This record gives sequence, structure tokens and C-alpha cells, in this order.
Amino acid sequence: MRPKRPTLFGSSPGAGQPFINGRPCGVARRSGIRFANSTGGSGIGGPMNQSATSAASRTGEVHQPGQPFVGYRSGILHIESLPLHALAEQYGTPLFVYSKAAMLAALGAYQRGFAGRNAQICYAMKANSSLGVLQVFAEAGCGFDIVSGGELQRVLAAGGRAETIIFSGVGKTRSEMHAALAAGIGCFNVESEAELDVLAATAEAMRLQAPVSIRVNPNIDPKTHPYISTGLKGNKFGVAHEDALRIYRHAASLKALRIVGIDCHIGSQITDSTPYLEAMERVLDLVDAIEAAGIVLAHIDFGGGLGIDYNGDQPPAADALWQRLLARIDARGYDDKKLMIEPGRSLVGNAGVCVTEVLYLKPGEQKNFCIVDAAMNDLPRPAMYQAFHAIVPLREAQTQREKTAYDVVGPVCESGDWLGHDRQLAVAAGDLLAVLSAGAYCMSMASNYNTRGRAAEVLVDGAVAYLIRQREDAADQMRGERLIQR
Ligand code: LLP
Repeated sequence: MRPKRPTLFGSSPGAGQPFINGRPCGVARRSGIRFANSTGGSGIGGPMNQSATSAASRTGEVHQPGQPFVGYRSGILHIESLPLHALAEQYGTPLFVYSKAAMLAALGAYQRGFAGRNAQICYAMKANSSLGVLQVFAEAGCGFDIVSGGELQRVLAAGGRAETIIFSGVGKTRSEMHAALAAGIGCFNVESEAELDVLAATAEAMRLQAPVSIRVNPNIDPKTHPYISTGLKGNKFGVAHEDALRIYRHAASLKALRIVGIDCHIGSQITDSTPYLEAMERVLDLVDAIEAAGIVLAHIDFGGGLGIDYNGDQPPAADALWQRLLARIDARGYDDKKLMIEPGRSLVGNAGVCVTEVLYLKPGEQKNFCIVDAAMNDLPRPAMYQAFHAIVPLREAQTQREKTAYDVVGPVCESGDWLGHDRQLAVAAGDLLAVLSAGAYCMSMASNYNTRGRAAEVLVDGAVAYLIRQREDAADQMRGERLIQR
């Protein structure tokens, strides 16, 4: 959809209130209303929600993650106080829209879990690295987990403080180390012995000491998609549990390094507490051994990985999970340690949607296709991991019409360019749909494949919409390219 003339966003009826399916459904909580889930979880889906057809879609019901910040009011899908169709009219489609309140609510669950503790929440910005999103977390007091020199520059540009940054990743270059040392980041999460030596040499040349933690691989199966399991022996991440003590001793012998902690990260979209609890015991065993060797660890960084609801998934709440983990830490006598975590998806995933317009319906003998203007370059997760994202109409009236099963696909010239298989939809060309749970690993993984400009992004705060990224055009994409000069 091409943007129309600017629309004014006043407050719509009931503005400022959470909502769900246009129906009052709950009792008062702080804001005066508490809302229950409309459809409940399908309980199926497994790792990455690969099931193309959810229980909800088979029954014609559509599961709606993101509530109460994304939901229907008077039959119109809103994000916070704003109707999504009005944002699409103003900014065009495909359009990513994020709820600031949803991000802060997700952060609040972690903050509650750590209340009264010495802890630092470092947002894993790879999940969504747009400046406006980083600004929300910087202003809320978060640190950042970065994995590149580019991410370092983004954090600093968004107002993040260098000393709250931790730098993860298996392939840090010398120049990235140099930039991070010059900026004064809080910690390098080192992933190999070879990296340790290069970091020490880089710091020495700058006459600085690099703060380090070593990422240990606890060899725990997080029971998630293989592409996002990171804590198993066969993964490229971290150092093996059995090598960790030796590598810590080596680090302690290097004068240009200052050991500050230990870290691990076992995977992503984890919906079960057990792998976390098991990994915690393994890491604490190492803390016992490392401190017995006379090396003091000021902090324990437990990574990120907590899953979100895509299709009825029921991950533990962040505060409940951390209550259990903190109890284990305390029971083992480490209540004095500073705790660090690196959540990404769980802070932003369900705060975002991608609004897309139906371009064409293409009925077929075997399948019906609903061709929309968003594609795998905007939303790569279905193509990459067979991931499930709920797809819902912007006007609930559409859900009451006769439904047909469609494969929702984009315009990219690949059969892998699909956003949803077998979705029950009542749609016509020109209708608008929202792809839900699109706040994490969508825009940050978007590409220009097929010379498609990346989508615009809007951040909503109550009844106010901020354009935080303008739509990319072809000139933006060709900037920096050169014709051959003869
Ligand atoms: N810390 C480290 C060292 C990581 O590698 C990651 C994610 C995180 C923290 C944050 O994990 P989270 O809380 O977001 O689960 N593109 C995939 C996910 C890749 C995750 C990579 N590492 C997806 O779309 O599902």
C-alpha cells in the first residue's frame, strides 16, 4: 500500500486502555482492566512452531499473541490506542509497528524478577536493532549485548552507555575489539582461547586492560530449533565445559586482561525452565572450580533465550523463571554475585506486528494463494526456520466472512517465500493483514533481496506514532554502488 496523505491521530474511543477483540473481558488491574487470552494456547507447535496448521487455524480461530497491547477494539485491530489501518494508510505497507508499552511490560517482568538484586539486563539487540527501539531500552536503564562493531555504533548513537555493553560473538575482529576498548565497554564475552590472545594483544597495544568473561558451553539441550541451539557440544559457541578452568587460568596470566565474569547462552525460543536450571547448575559447578583456583568472578551472565508465544507456546514468565534460578544461585552460596542476562526476543517479539496488503488472490487446484506485499526479505523466519507467525485481518468483520485456506506468500521469486501455510482467511485484494509476533528477528534480519526496499517502522506510545525508520527506496539501495568506469 502506498502511503496516503498524513492522517491525524487523535485518541479513539477508549484510548489508552488495553483491549481485546472489542469485548470487555476481564477485571481491573492497575489500568482498571484485566484481560484474559481470547483463544488460549493451541499447546502444539514444538520448537519454532513449525506446525504449518495450528489447532487454532483448523478450528477457524486465530491465535493472537501480543495482547493486550495488540488487539481488536470495536472490530478494528489496534496497537495501543491506534488503529493499525490508519498507520498503514499514513506510512504505507509493508509496515512494522511496535508498541513501546509492550516492550516496557516485557522488561518489567525481568525487573520484577531481579528486584533487590545486583543485576544488569543487557538487551540482545540483534533481535531488533532499530535506533528507536534501542532508545526505549537505553532510557529504561538497560545495558546491551552486542555482536559487532556496527551494533556498538548503534548503541552509542541511541544513547546507550558504553560501560553497560557486553560484546558477544565467536568472530570479533581486531578492529572491532579496538573500537570497543576505545569506547570503554563493560565486558568482552570471549568465545575461544585464540580470541583471548588476540584481545590481550589488542588491549596491550592500546595500553589498556580488557574486561573479560569466558563463554562456557554447558552442553545442555535447550530443546529448540537446531539453528538456534547454541549450548551443545557440536555448536560453534563458547568453550567446552572441561576446558574452561584451563582457559580461565590462561586468561589470568595475561596482564592486559581483567577477568570480570563467566557467561553462557544455551539457545533461543526456549519454552521450558528445565534446560535453564540444568545449565545454571553446570555453570555454578565451574564457578566453584574457578574460584577454588583463586580467580574471582564478579558476575555471572546467563545469556538470553527465553521464548515467546507465537502459536500457543507457554514459556515461563521471566520473573517466575528468575525466582527459580535465583533460588539455586542463593542455595549454592553465590547470592553476592552480580547477575547479567541478555534477553532479546522476549523483550520485543510480541511488541511488534508487520502490516501487509493483500495484492492478489490466486485460487488453485491444490492450493489457494494469498499474495501479499510483505515477503521473505521482510519476514525471513518462516523461510529460514519454518517458523509460525499468526496472520490476522485488520478488520475483525473479515473473520466473520466465509473463510478459505490460503498459503500467504510474498512477491519474491522463490517458492520458499511464504509467510504462512494453510491459513483460514476471508480476504479480498486490498485488505490489510497483520503478521503478529514480528518484533524480533524480522526487521533486524530483513534484506534487500529482489531489490526490495526495507519496510518503514513506526513506534507507538499510547496514542502517538513515531516514524523510527523511513521506507527504503531504490536510490537508498544503490547508494555506494558504482558503474564500471571505462
Ligand atoms: N545472547 C547471545 C550470545 C545470543 O547469541 C543470543 C541470540 C541472545 C543473547 C538473545 O537470545 P534471545 O533472548 O533473543 O533468544 N534468528 C533466530 C534467533 C537467533 C538467536 C541468536 N542469538 C530467530 O529468528 O529465531
